[in-house]
Amino acid sequence: MKDICIISEGHLIDSGLLSEILNLILEDSLEYIIEKISIGKTPGESSRAEIRIFAEDEAHIREVLPKLIRLGAYEKGAVNGRYVPSGRDAHAPEGFYSTTNHRTEVYDRDIWNPVEDMRMDAVIIRKEERYICTKIRDVRKGDEVLCGSDSVRAYPPAVEKKDDGFAFMTNEVSSERSYDVAVDMVAEELKQLKEKGGRMVVVCGPVVIHTGGAAALAALIRAGYVQGFLGGNAVAVHDMETVYYGTSLGVDMKNGKPTHGGHNHHMRAINRINGYGSIRAAIEAGDLSEGLMYQVIKSDIPFCLAGSIRDDGPLPETVMDMIEAQGQYAEIIRGCDMILMLSTMLHSIGTGNMTPSWVKTVCIDINPAVVTKLADRGSGQAVGIVSDVGLFLNALAGRLGLEY
Ligand SMILES: NC(=O)c1ccc[n+]([C@@H]2O[C@H](COP(=O)([O-])OP(=O)(O)OC[C@H]3O[C@@H](n4cnc5c(N)ncnc54)[C@H](O)[C@@H]3O)[C@@H](O)[C@H]2O)c1
Repeated sequence: MKDICIISEGHLIDSGLLSEILNLILEDSLEYIIEKISIGKTPGESSRAEIRIFAEDEAHIREVLPKLIRLGAYEKGAVNGRYVPSGRDAHAPEGFYSTTNHRTEVYDRDIWNPVEDMRMDAVIIRKEERYICTKIRDVRKGDEVLCGSDSVRAYPPAVEKKDDGFAFMTNEVSSERSYDVAVDMVAEELKQLKEKGGRMVVVCGPVVIHTGGAAALAALIRAGYVQGFLGGNAVAVHDMETVYYGTSLGVDMKNGKPTHGGHNHHMRAINRINGYGSIRAAIEAGDLSEGLMYQVIKSDIPFCLAGSIRDDGPLPETVMDMIEAQGQYAEIIRGCDMILMLSTMLHSIGTGNMTPSWVKTVCIDINPAVVTKLADRGSGQAVGIVSDVGLFLNALAGRLGLEY
């Protein structure tokens, strides 16, 4: 029988983390005994448990350890990490440690060291005394890549649980009853972020334009609540279509009726922008003087329109090189405090994949299955709201007292 001792610290009882860890151990056919446990008496105090796990062989324990690390447990008496040089570009040595999106530390040089640029599905490379989360495609020959998981400690949000209004709503997908509460909570969160100079990034789909939410979102940007804008070709195309022709997907934005010849308005909008060379140039020429993209560019917030195979045009600003677009997205969300995901499954999932778990995310979509999927992507700080996105944005701007 082989055994190791793991330590788990944090809000073990109220978050259900301890039972999750013990269930995982049993499900994976290991045995355990709790050697020591101290339980926090007040909600602010954290708990600590030392759990010894047993298996027939060492390999079985090593197989289960990464799953326990994902839950914030770490090996007692951690050893210095094993770093193996990569043999070629875009390739990690066998046995590389695959990262989670939680705040992470690695044990090396006999101390715990923080890992930079945390994101899921990456590797950790050591550069002198820095430990950097890196996509496999960005690994270069000779980079020292961390192998094995016995020197890793992760901090899922349940370990670092904060008691604020947001935490109260976390991991809930709001029903109709709690919709007003959810809008209030987002408005309150945005006010606080703005006051303390935090960063909020919006991920925006074209449905925001179709549902009449663009003016409310533009008002949020104008009022300084948004510090980054992520989307695709369509949101910009339909925004231009609305500004130039008063339609979105050919439907009149005032009376909701299809317009004669409206089906080609989006192509005329793309062509009109192409005539200037870019959206920015159309603004500078005075041809585009309102709308969502106008506000994004005028407010000088960083933005990226990531291309897709569905795109018409695309507009000159749309980034069709996917690696480049992913890089720009990652740069815009770097260090942000909150992400508002507005009715785009594609770009929200893409953003979620590169977001650390401590960033607050709010997902608004009319399809409950999409909301659940987005709110449940390894982030412990996600709130899902099932709603028409136009109604949501107008309610939010109203709560913030914005005029538009
Ligand atoms: N003309 C074009 O160039 C064009 C047109 C459409 C899409 N695209 C591109 O295709 C890609 C995917 O597009 P996408 O992000 O729109 O599609 P998506 O399927 O990823 O997401 C659309 C989401 O909107 C939700 N939704 C629908 N109606 C809603 C409402 N009233 N309120 C709230 N949510 C609602 C859906 O449930 C869905 O989850 C993007 O890159 C986009 O730019 C391009």
